[in-house]
Amino acid sequence: MRTDTGQVFKLEDYRPSDYAIPRTELTFRLAPEATVVTATLTIERREDTALTTPLVLDGDGLALSRLEIDGREPDLSAYDATPDRLTIHVSPAARQFRLTIETVVNPSANLALMGLYRSSGVYCTQCEAEGFRRITYFLDRPDILSVYTVRIEARREEAPLLLSNGNPVESGDLPGGRHFAVWHDPFQKPSYLFALIAGDLGRISDQFTTMNGRTVDLGVYVEHGKEPLAAYAMDALKRSMKWDEEAFGREYDLDVFNIVAVSDFNMGAMENKGLNVFNDKYVLADRETATDTDFANIEAIIAHEYFHNWTGNRITCRDWFQLCLKEGLTVYRDHEFSADQRSRAVKRIAEVRALRALQFPEDQGPLAHPVRPRRYREINNFYTATVYEKGSEVVRMIRTILGTAAFRAGMDLYFDRHDGEAATIEDFLKAFEDASGRDLSQFALWYHQAGTPHLAVTSRYDAAAKELTIDIEQSVPPTPSETRKRLMHIPLAFGLVGKDGQDMLASSVDGATVEDGVIHVHKRRHSVTFSGISSRPALSLNRGFSAPITLSVEQKAEDLAFLAGHDSDLFARWEALHTLFSKAIITAYRRLRGGKAAEFKPELAALAGAIAGDETLEPAFCALALTLPSEADIAREIGGDIDPEIVFAARLALAQAIAAANRQGFEAHYASLVDGGEFSPDAASAGRRALRNILLDHLSLLPDGAGLAARHFRDATNMTDRAAALAVLVHRQGETQEAAEALARFESTYLADSLVMDKWFQIQASAPGAETLDRVKALMRHPSFSMNNPNRVRALIGTLANASQTGFHRADGEGYRFLADTVVDIDRRNPQLAARLATAFRSWRSLEPIRQEKARAALLSVAQTSDLSADLGDIVQRTLA
Ligand code: TRP
Ligand code: ZN
Repeated sequence: MRTDTGQVFKLEDYRPSDYAIPRTELTFRLAPEATVVTATLTIERREDTALTTPLVLDGDGLALSRLEIDGREPDLSAYDATPDRLTIHVSPAARQFRLTIETVVNPSANLALMGLYRSSGVYCTQCEAEGFRRITYFLDRPDILSVYTVRIEARREEAPLLLSNGNPVESGDLPGGRHFAVWHDPFQKPSYLFALIAGDLGRISDQFTTMNGRTVDLGVYVEHGKEPLAAYAMDALKRSMKWDEEAFGREYDLDVFNIVAVSDFNMGAMENKGLNVFNDKYVLADRETATDTDFANIEAIIAHEYFHNWTGNRITCRDWFQLCLKEGLTVYRDHEFSADQRSRAVKRIAEVRALRALQFPEDQGPLAHPVRPRRYREINNFYTATVYEKGSEVVRMIRTILGTAAFRAGMDLYFDRHDGEAATIEDFLKAFEDASGRDLSQFALWYHQAGTPHLAVTSRYDAAAKELTIDIEQSVPPTPSETRKRLMHIPLAFGLVGKDGQDMLASSVDGATVEDGVIHVHKRRHSVTFSGISSRPALSLNRGFSAPITLSVEQKAEDLAFLAGHDSDLFARWEALHTLFSKAIITAYRRLRGGKAAEFKPELAALAGAIAGDETLEPAFCALALTLPSEADIAREIGGDIDPEIVFAARLALAQAIAAANRQGFEAHYASLVDGGEFSPDAASAGRRALRNILLDHLSLLPDGAGLAARHFRDATNMTDRAAALAVLVHRQGETQEAAEALARFESTYLADSLVMDKWFQIQASAPGAETLDRVKALMRHPSFSMNNPNRVRALIGTLANASQTGFHRADGEGYRFLADTVVDIDRRNPQLAARLATAFRSWRSLEPIRQEKARAALLSVAQTSDLSADLGDIVQRTLA
């Protein structure tokens, strides 16, 4: 594990490498505690490299056991090996040579899950971003593209399955119960896309015929006995392959495509060429064990990793500052895929909720950074919501600005120009500029400037002149190390909604700014006038969430209520309703803080009831409409001096008002959606379950809520309903008999299934109230819990810190102390996981003063710990700065 050296990497320091590695041959002699790795690298000095320049290969905690240059052992003076570096003093005469490096690594001791490690006995690798250097010395940077041939040897009994990237070439027996396989990947790739899997796994097989008639053998590998749980993932893979051909003209390029599910994994999944490795949580699913959200995540992540084959692998990143080039673009592609497979409006609302929950607090706090950062200390800490989700929003805005046809032409040009290269964001933007003839130079600030832009909007209607004028003012709030911001190009989709709910056909006086329903904001102030407006319309702004900004519109509550009921843009309807919810909860919060009781206008509960009961709307949309803004959403809207307990109380009060006002309607609706017993994970069926479950959540706040939830739990025929009922029992009823019985029942049913037990941990860790912390501490001693498994740790500790506002932000500060101690403990095994958990502190400055001080003290205690990893040290220092 690398401890913090304090070294900072800067974008402006990029230089091409002095040497290239056109070919890489690897041999792995696998053994649990001492795997011997032999790398034979063909090294070439680049044309303009000075003859005396040494070759400096990256390592991370490596032990060199043998070295050869062109087949001969070199003089001791010819090289210098440390755990972190191998320096070769290359003979000036040698323009090209072969370097053989032997290292010995211990996969069983590797708890960081980077490099070569073992997960439930399966050998696996994770090399992104800089894990390859934990396997062998290499130029471990993404602009070093090499053609790999990999030979794997292992005991046949321990590892009958031997996989690597590319196509299989050869396999056979070796003496002593061992065997081997050779894989060759004809596509040159960076080291971070290397992968090896060896173990004893079950397989499901299928085939895909590409648009040019090539047959690809597909395999999904899972633990023996779990093969039926991989069927949905396989189906999602085939749909992804087809969609990428239809939507982007991208065809798969190898004879085989393999997916392997492992149970110990730091992230969701990894796009290694031809051999995607997945967190098993994003592969395994059936009605009994997976929720509809699990199914949707599996579909999205299978697609995401598959789509990387073109956006990431065929065209990769020049350096890690360009991470969004592959991640933002690939998230955009997986969003579009899911939107096409499911309901576009519902998908869009879910995306925006996730962006606001994860990216907005990042952009508005101490960890803010541009979509393309300019500096980092630890690249692992930049796999963020900003790079991924905001990065996707930026691509989406390019499509909005260019229009569908020019966007596609730009993508085609990008693929054409840069296939086989390691590219930059500038290359990407240039392809769109060249394909469309548009100037994207101001737009490019979305990549370079951190922070969430804000638009303040007012409007005036002149009845006599039949004119509507919209006044817009743009501002970009300061972020760490960027105090002065430049003005951005913000595409603001809009509609002027008339009394009949129809969009008015309005012509703008300023045609350059308004185009196809989009106002192009690019200056500090705009005044846009529309003529021929016969009555005052309701203003619908940022339709479809066309730009990832915050917006304040001077607008009457009746206009918002009208939009919630009538806007032709479904996202805008949801947004209008939720703006009303949010304002009402904040008003209640202020009243409660002032010692008064919460009060709500009856119209709001009635509106919620009307939308939930509108049969012209999709049930999934109604479910989202009835899901109140989260406590964290509300805290973010309030901005500062937050008391999480009062936020909780204010939100609960609105939920109670809605439930009480709609009791009869909700009961009837709930009954009408009763589960008929048949099951399909499709979006429409999932939507009906979602609506029924949110209705249950509201009804549970009324008398005999516990009885209703207990019946829902008992009668559930799938995990979505069972987990939803358990959450209602545990969160809404507290420590009741019903909750205790359901927890015990769930535990005894699923004790042997770790992924399902994660839900059991999660539901308990997200319960409101100060006692949740004590419960989490007790659950850490549960036999199913393990500090070494990232899914378990995230389910219990991550959930407490991110989903139980009143548990984590306990007034006595014990939640902060607990998280601080726990991340230090985890850091010794898995720095990446520890650093990610520590980001739960990122909004500490928006708390009320007493909690703020306690959070700061906890963060300081982490910062003062000796031998922190670079990962955790970086997060804690930036959070405190
Ligand atoms: N490239 C992966 C993806 O988004 C992310 C990833 C998987 C990753 N494992 C990782 C990033 C480990 C850093 C470290 O699809
Ligand atoms: Zn990705």
